[in-house]
Amino acid sequence: MQRPTYFISQPMLYRNNRNWYGYKKISGKIVSKKSLRTTSKQEAEAWLSRMRVSLKAIEERQSFSDSEFLPGPAIGWLHKDTQVLPYDEPESWEAIKNLNCPVHIVFNDNRMGLVVINGEIPEAMLSSDATIPIIGSLAALPAANLGDRSFCDDHGIDYAYYTGAMANGIASVEMVEAAANSGLLGFFGSGGLDLGEIEKAIDALTRKCPDKPFGFNLIHSPNEPKLEADTVQLYLDRNIRLVEAAAFLDVTLPLVRYRVSGISRDDGGLVVTPNHIIAKLSREEVAEKFLSPPPEHFIDELVSIGELSREQAELCSLIPLAQDIVAEADSGGHTDNRPALTLFPTILALRDKKQAVFNFSQPSRIGLGGGISTPWSAAAAYAMGAAFIVTGSVNQACVESGTSDDVRAMLAGTRQADVAMAPAADMFEMGVNVQVLKRGTMFAMRAAKLYELYRNYGAVEDIPAVERTKIEKTMLRCSFEESWADTKSFWQHRDPGEIERAKNNPKHKMALIFRSYLGRAAVWAQRGDVSRKIDYQIFCGPSMGAFNEWVKDSFLAIPENRKVATIALNILYGAAFLRRCNYIENMGISLPENLKKIRPLELGQVLEYLK
Ligand SMILES: Cc1cc2nc3c(=O)[nH]c(=O)nc-3n(C[C@H](O)[C@H](O)[C@H](O)COP(=O)(O)O)c2cc1C
Repeated sequence: MQRPTYFISQPMLYRNNRNWYGYKKISGKIVSKKSLRTTSKQEAEAWLSRMRVSLKAIEERQSFSDSEFLPGPAIGWLHKDTQVLPYDEPESWEAIKNLNCPVHIVFNDNRMGLVVINGEIPEAMLSSDATIPIIGSLAALPAANLGDRSFCDDHGIDYAYYTGAMANGIASVEMVEAAANSGLLGFFGSGGLDLGEIEKAIDALTRKCPDKPFGFNLIHSPNEPKLEADTVQLYLDRNIRLVEAAAFLDVTLPLVRYRVSGISRDDGGLVVTPNHIIAKLSREEVAEKFLSPPPEHFIDELVSIGELSREQAELCSLIPLAQDIVAEADSGGHTDNRPALTLFPTILALRDKKQAVFNFSQPSRIGLGGGISTPWSAAAAYAMGAAFIVTGSVNQACVESGTSDDVRAMLAGTRQADVAMAPAADMFEMGVNVQVLKRGTMFAMRAAKLYELYRNYGAVEDIPAVERTKIEKTMLRCSFEESWADTKSFWQHRDPGEIERAKNNPKHKMALIFRSYLGRAAVWAQRGDVSRKIDYQIFCGPSMGAFNEWVKDSFLAIPENRKVATIALNILYGAAFLRRCNYIENMGISLPENLKKIRPLELGQVLEYLK
């Protein structure tokens, strides 16, 4: 049957909870395009009478031009006996909630409805019995389709989602294992640990996850270059093939050494590297370096010390230093507090610029982290084009994290504005800040005070006596002399060179004492030393508050129920569901508000929906 292109339409109104919609009905069929959407009944009725008047005028004229009544075309028609689920009924919404279920949105019996697409083309579709207009169609959207598929394929995971490293083993072996067992990627938090402790984690993870991917953190240590080099050596020795490089302000030799070690061409002539770097950064000038080939002078140095052959060195200009980049927006820990909405497109544009220059066979992928802890933020990240997403703060609040129950309880009570910037222990002298929890601890204030004193005085002895006593009483809880003795014994074990430096440089000595307080404040929190609760240093970003708001009154409000996989899969499921809702709404079809409320699901349930 030849379908007419245009129809004369009869105006009619349809109403859901919030809005009035004006539709045009054509010889018994409702056409898809909405001519009116309003919350005002008065406006809706005015529209209706206007339309009736013009219809009457046309009928009196007995002729019309095509353009006078152009309804939006239906995108297809279904047989009149097709099973249509009522649009406004929660039971029908399962079809949308089930990510793998494609559905048509139709207009039937003067109301909207849903038709589950089962893959068959109904015979009647082409007959005159096809009287149900389809006004929109929604494809399946498995959560595994979110982000860049090649990220999952390259790293051997199901979902483009990774749990970021958290220092001192807060991102613990158990956390990395939980991520690996759920088709995600997890990074162990090596920062702040000595080599022995990192090696123990390597042993544990290679034993627990023999066939699953995982990675280790490589945090830039400007104050301890030897530690950075030794950590790289350990990773190379132990075949750790994936590192998350963070806090780098510039490229270093150990980092380059890790990336290019073992570089070769495969049988197909493609340049391959056994080792991969995911670089986490928030500055354009740093991004430029990671999106470019490793610097030549480092390659020359590696050749001169026999680490690379000449042939290998030539291949190094054909790869970017980092295959994956995380644009790290406002996050817990080290952060420049950049808004994700501006940072991501900037880094993406930079990638395109660099790719145009270097024409790598595989361009670097850009993911997004910082602020992601809910389905909404994850959906926004993927919608912007993030190849993958990264979470941190929300994982610290999980039972697998290597922190104390006390900290988990504090994180469960954290709200959006309960975070503040405070001087960082590792880059104290450089004036670098980290984002920490403010509520329930005085750490941020106290650390800021110490930095102020460090800036203003050349030695502990120069600090006015009143201030000195206050610090001894409140923060150090011992004299400066005793604190220096403790600090010295720490460095004796870690790097005795620091003590030598302090001997000749009283300002450095002051920095080491203050850094010792900052460092121990993180340990007190991690161990749950309640006698030092007021000094707890807890890295935390605003994403924690957003998460708590989302899960309020659900089982995930309770700290003991917070598990890395349950949270990650809920975020992923919710993000995919929201993207489906967006798609429907982008077709001009409004959704019942209740449908869009995403409540956290128990693990079994979310796995069902993800199937
Ligand atoms: C407690 C904590 C410790 C962190 N430690 C590290 C670290 O040692 N190395 C690192 O690369 N990132 C670290 N991060 C950053 C996370 O890996 C992640 O990139 C970040 O938390 C994501 O932002 P979000 O906190 O808004 O989720 C830490 C974050 C937190 C909350």
